[in-house]
Amino acid sequence: MDFNSPPISPIESAETWFDDAKNAVTTENPLAMTLSTNQHDGRIASRIVLMKSFSQDGVLFFTNYESDKAQEIDANNNVALLFHWDVLARQLRIRGRATKVSADVSDEYFATRTRLSQLGAWASEQSKPLQSKDELMARVTELDAKWEGEAIPRPPFWGGYCVSLDTIEFWQGRDGRLHDRILYTNDGSWSCERLQP
Ligand SMILES: Cc1cc2nc3c(=O)[nH]c(=O)nc-3n(C[C@H](O)[C@H](O)[C@H](O)COP(=O)(O)O)c2cc1C
Repeated sequence: MDFNSPPISPIESAETWFDDAKNAVTTENPLAMTLSTNQHDGRIASRIVLMKSFSQDGVLFFTNYESDKAQEIDANNNVALLFHWDVLARQLRIRGRATKVSADVSDEYFATRTRLSQLGAWASEQSKPLQSKDELMARVTELDAKWEGEAIPRPPFWGGYCVSLDTIEFWQGRDGRLHDRILYTNDGSWSCERLQP
């Protein structure tokens, strides 16, 4: 990323940063991101989800469509995404609107998950109270038997969201906390401005 003469579009720079994270960050989930949503009472909720792909159309992640986060998105689909790669001294912030992806896209990704993850998606009423772990594991065992020797279909209540790219901010740490920041805004076309650290 050339902060002195930033490219017109941020897409390639973001792709480069995601590639750098995959190559340089040795933790298990270099593409883990914090997803913040608006709760119904005006408060904000944050949690980690995994980015599964990035393109000019947006950021793709998967979850339970009946979870707290999904209900919050149903009511207000303005969300914020946050990546931090300490070893690269980089932060990437994205704001946008989350919309459900097509059933085909969700089916395709669900099919790549391990069988246990597929069973987990069926068994977990994500975000709801759980009396005991035994209760959850009993559901997993029951569902495993139900589909023994068969492919497991995607639950209708599980799938992907795509977060549009409304703003993207690149932050690169520098000595003396004189960090570099560029904020891109998408109003049909991209514009950008440099921000003070
Ligand atoms: C490294 C990591 C990756 C995670 N990835 C996902 C994910 O891709 N999708 C998801 O629904 N939850 C994921 N979770 C769990 C969420 O952080 C959260 O606990 C769950 O989605 C329930 O959130 P909610 O009750 O606010 O809806 C992940 C957690 C961690 C720590």
